[in-house]
Amino acid sequence: MGLTIVALPGDGVGKEVVSSSLRVFQECVSKHGIDVQLEEYKIGGQALEEYGEPLPDFVLEACKSSRIILLGAVGDDRYDNNPPHLRPEQALLRLRKELGLFANLRPVRTNAALLESSPLKASIVEGVDILIVRELTGGIYFGEPRGIETRAEGRVGINTEVYFDYEVERIARVAFEASQGRRQRLTSVDKANVLESSQLWRTVVSELSPDFPKVALQHMLVDNCAMQLIARPKDFDVLLASNLFGDILSDEAAMLTGSIGMLPSASLGESSAQGRIGMYEPVHGTAPDIVGQEKANPLATIASVALLFRYSLGRDDIGREIEYAIEKTLERGYRTPDIATEGGHLLGTQEMVDQVLEALHS
Ligand code: NAD
Ligand code: IPM
Ligand code: MN
Repeated sequence: MGLTIVALPGDGVGKEVVSSSLRVFQECVSKHGIDVQLEEYKIGGQALEEYGEPLPDFVLEACKSSRIILLGAVGDDRYDNNPPHLRPEQALLRLRKELGLFANLRPVRTNAALLESSPLKASIVEGVDILIVRELTGGIYFGEPRGIETRAEGRVGINTEVYFDYEVERIARVAFEASQGRRQRLTSVDKANVLESSQLWRTVVSELSPDFPKVALQHMLVDNCAMQLIARPKDFDVLLASNLFGDILSDEAAMLTGSIGMLPSASLGESSAQGRIGMYEPVHGTAPDIVGQEKANPLATIASVALLFRYSLGRDDIGREIEYAIEKTLERGYRTPDIATEGGHLLGTQEMVDQVLEALHS
């Protein structure tokens, strides 16, 4: 049986960036003669509209059997007042949990051609190369108890940060292993001066450190980390963080590259005999302020396709080809509005993809 890839465009600009990046995907599979079937399903607000739920079981089953997923983004303010299980975002959270995608890799690399696109000085962002390793199936996103209740004192909203040692250990292992293949520096982020869950996090990460003697481990409080990321981003190599802290720090780190429209991600499960299940998506959301205007930057999703080739298809060579085509496109001065600089050629979403395809050919 051949390979099947499931595409889940989702809502808002999710649809625009997935259709864009599938053009690059199709070009690469046909160029390299890879036999692959593509299936596409609605999730999020689109699925709520059609099926009355954000992630129908048959879509989840299709993802479980394909084991390779390309996702856009979910979220639609028409459903913002729905109960949690009927919000578009629930599709994403359930996919992550049910597919066991505990390891979210978010590479943050500045591109030499885009130094002027960052609000920070070029001298600060030049050469930044960080890998954020975000825990994705635990912590306050999933902890119990949770909910909104009415008590004698008044209404109360409750969420709980919960981390078991094995959850911290498996994500820390991913981060240590990644550091070994990079600059051998690991910064583990927590709030151990206040939170017990962070104290256990810090202990478990430290206990693993002797297994990786070449990796220099450093613990950093999250508030300080948010500041250091802006002050001296080049000093970071691998950044390990909980679900919530990783979410926040990755949007902040996006601005080192110039735009959230540049940041790809890979969400991976445990290695098994069938390989590693992988879901690939940009870090950004549905961008309701620019939807339908050809303003969405497709590069984060195209770079996520590169990660798909690398991690799920074992084709690092194709991943590199795509990343090189992105670099070339930027070097040639092509820009979507979010990364526009003086003297650049301003393009719409699909025109930007045309240029990436052109760069792939040349
Ligand atoms: P967002 O990431 O959608 O947008 C934040 C800002 O970044 C906006 O100004 C937007 O125009 C810009 N932006 C985002 N993607 C861009 C792109 N590709 N090119 C150019 N500019 C881009 O965050 P938000 O506004 O806080 O959230 C909007 C909705 O998206 C919410 O419903 C939220 O829950 C959802 N969301 C989904 C995901 C996901 O599915 N992975 C991630 C984040 C937010
Ligand atoms: C992300 C998003 C999601 C998250 C939301 C949409 C549930 O912000 O993938 O970064 O918080 O994980
Ligand atoms: Mn986020």
